[in-house]
Amino acid sequence: MSKSYRIAVIKGDGIGPEIIDEAIKVLDAVSITQGFNLKYEEMLLGGAAIDETGVPLPDETIKGVKKSDAVLFGAIGGPKWDNLERHLRPESGLLGLRKEMGTFANLRPAMVYDELVNASSLKAEVIQGVDIMVVRELTGGIYFGQPREQLEDKAYNTMIYTREEVQRIAVVAFDIAMKRNKRICSVDKANVLEVSQFWREIVEEVAKDYPEVELSHMYVDNAAMQLIRDPKQFDVILTGNIFGDILSDAASMLSGSIGLLPSASTGKGVGLFEPIHGSAPDIAGQGIANPLATISSASMMLRYAFGENEAADKIDAAIKKALSEGYRTGDLGDFDAKEIMTCTEMGDIVADYASR
Ligand code: IPM
Ligand code: MG
Repeated sequence: MSKSYRIAVIKGDGIGPEIIDEAIKVLDAVSITQGFNLKYEEMLLGGAAIDETGVPLPDETIKGVKKSDAVLFGAIGGPKWDNLERHLRPESGLLGLRKEMGTFANLRPAMVYDELVNASSLKAEVIQGVDIMVVRELTGGIYFGQPREQLEDKAYNTMIYTREEVQRIAVVAFDIAMKRNKRICSVDKANVLEVSQFWREIVEEVAKDYPEVELSHMYVDNAAMQLIRDPKQFDVILTGNIFGDILSDAASMLSGSIGLLPSASTGKGVGLFEPIHGSAPDIAGQGIANPLATISSASMMLRYAFGENEAADKIDAAIKKALSEGYRTGDLGDFDAKEIMTCTEMGDIVADYASR
């Protein structure tokens, strides 16, 4: 009997449904040639869940994802839900889901496709060959710290990290560095924040178990600058929740479009795979979104959650081939494009190449 995987599919809001449909098209294409079965079960999260059930993270979804082998997620949020109370906003649904699933390690690769070296707003010589893995802590830090409150004349959040939280994300980063170029830059704000000093000390301790890995530390403001000045100096960037959120958006522009970059969130059990971009309400429904970040996230799912490396390699190669043939969605339209495609057409091309 061939292997079978259950995928919880969360399309979400905005361009979410469009880009997920293309990822599924590509997954179906490789699963046929690679001989495994994929079963999809759709679940609600974010604005779509609010409209249907009144809450951004229904219990059904929590139960459903826990029974699945992996979660493939599009994007959530939009102006329609912006005025809701914080705990009822779409974003709270996503944060709650990450916490429930225990996906504390968010891997955000930022690489530059040779084919798109002219697409970045930075000079080709600065970015050609960039290959960075941002390892972002995802279920702690200021996003989740208690106490937090908004009062009449003040509001506060708390940045908190426990020893265990820093240790486990550092171990993930060091393990990844061992499979890459064995360099980690841990990013913090230890010149100002106790929580960052603590972070730094624990990362140093973990480093003792990895003598082959070269560890450096950088303040987050400097790291933002260095990412733009000379991104090739980085191999693995290890950082906390909010710094990782900001730096990964900055890193995405090295590749030319935020529509290209995938992410994998792993941790205690089932993994969550999603593009790093948002729901782009301004272009939703027009069929012009770039599905490649989501297709690439589906490839990460095959690799990290199912160990289907050959199928993942096929998808990655298909994306590269589509780009090198000059196929582009509108976000990359100005750059060596032979043909500007819709979201669906890009999905068709990648699915075709991936199944050969
Ligand atoms: C991301 C997003 C989320 C985050 C939002 C939508 C809550 O920006 O995944 O980077 O801040 O983590
Ligand atoms: Mg973000």
